[in-house]
Amino acid sequence: MSHSDDHAAGNRRDFLYVATATAGAVTAGAAIWPLVDQMNPSADVKAMASIEVDVADVEVGTQITVKWRGKPVFIRHRSPEDIELARSIPLTDLRDTDSRNANKPGEATDANRAMDENGEWLVMMGVCTHLGCVPLGDRAGDFGGWFCPCHGSHYDSAGRIRKGPAPRNLPVPVAAMNGTVVKLG
Ligand code: FES
Repeated sequence: MSHSDDHAAGNRRDFLYVATATAGAVTAGAAIWPLVDQMNPSADVKAMASIEVDVADVEVGTQITVKWRGKPVFIRHRSPEDIELARSIPLTDLRDTDSRNANKPGEATDANRAMDENGEWLVMMGVCTHLGCVPLGDRAGDFGGWFCPCHGSHYDSAGRIRKGPAPRNLPVPVAAMNGTVVKLG
């Protein structure tokens, strides 16, 4: 399989997950509607504000993109190399030293960016902090992470901005992990 075939397959896979997650959310919405309809109007809004994604099938070294609150969210199952690379970077090399993690405020260490203690899972908004394009993943760019082709921003394997016009690290949304289920919101 050529690199471009591989890339196309990755995109199809991403799309599949987006479609599945969206369908799941719609189904859940339809199922709970009769209940929430009898409650106050804000209840359905609250229910749709969070989604759960089972990441059991996401292989090491790959990522999926799910749509949440109308925006893409990257969920990456990082390889030992991804983790090692991210953890080898001194804070002094970073442009943005804030973790930008709603769950772990503090410095932008890799440990403060990852979901779990081992650093295997990285969850973040797939929205470039420059002007909002969706960066390309799968070790794109000069730092083994994501690359935003719109104006050339490079993010490392922890989603931290390293080069280009983007001012901040990719933000980590409110999220929790329970076994293989990631809950967003
Ligand atoms: S929107 Fe990503 S670099 Fe400009």
